[in-house]
Amino acid sequence: RQEESIRPQRFADYIGQKDLKDVLDIAIEAAKSRGEIIDHLLLYGPPGLGKTTMAMILASEMGVNCKITSAPALERPRDIVGLLVNLKPGDVLFVDEIHRLSRMTEEILYPAMEDYRLDITVGKGSSARIRSIPLSKFTLVGATTRVGALTSPLRERFGLIQKLRFYEVDELSRIVIRTAELLKTTVNCSGATEIAKRSRGTPRIANRLLKRVRDYAEVKSRTEINETVAAEALQLFQVDPCGLDWTDRKMLSVIIENFNGGPVGLETLAAATGEDTQTIEEVYEPYLMQIGYLSRTPRGRVATKAAYQHMGFKPPNEQLSLL
Ligand code: ADE
Repeated sequence: RQEESIRPQRFADYIGQKDLKDVLDIAIEAAKSRGEIIDHLLLYGPPGLGKTTMAMILASEMGVNCKITSAPALERPRDIVGLLVNLKPGDVLFVDEIHRLSRMTEEILYPAMEDYRLDITVGKGSSARIRSIPLSKFTLVGATTRVGALTSPLRERFGLIQKLRFYEVDELSRIVIRTAELLKTTVNCSGATEIAKRSRGTPRIANRLLKRVRDYAEVKSRTEINETVAAEALQLFQVDPCGLDWTDRKMLSVIIENFNGGPVGLETLAAATGEDTQTIEEVYEPYLMQIGYLSRTPRGRVATKAAYQHMGFKPPNEQLSLL
């Protein structure tokens, strides 16, 4: 699939997340020189920043396989058992959305992570016995958008806990140029920057927008994606110059127009936009907070002065709003 071929396969091709790459470089080199495997790694941060890609690169740099799964696919104990017993020495097991593991699956993982051992109960009632099966040593890479939602016994079993951060515009612009080359489409520097600025700090969004702009350029017979083509196309797809989409704008306009700037409860925002509360919390809010348009207070969400300006409203007079 095209999605797979545009993922960078090596650290050398992975743009951004320098702090994380530095940490992993050390871990890889140290493990290699000792002939050991890498400690279990927990990656957290908003979706689309490259957690899966990082796990795949880690495996390829170590010269091992990477098995990819996600917590919702591991509902029954036998799902995780099947994966664990088939791991080869050093393999990477990537579990996405790891905060959503079922209790039983999580309990199977504890001895597996700690001692590379599978404890299974045979028999029932008073004749029940625990049998231990040795496993190959492996590296668990867990990914989550909410590190706080992990149980502490699970979190404590990770030797490395690392955060992925939003990307800078120049990093996203380099990613757009790299992907454009792989897609065999032509984009100039200002075109790439225009797409990057509207990508909410997220490579997955940058690559998705690039594909939409490429469609537009082809249909309109534009030979090159420049700033104008990118801006025209993205306006058509209702992605504004800051990368906000319909839902972001709806959230801000509800807070500003219906609730006088807030505070507004999460449920209200979910109802107004038709998104579920989890999506609002994990996808929409992190970026709006990052760019300083939204703040979370104990009583609810509040639109900032910058949000008023972006949405074309006069910010409320701070003195008056205190009365
Ligand atoms: N494609 C998606 N994310 C990327 C990244 N961080 N570096 C290079 N290409 C990418």
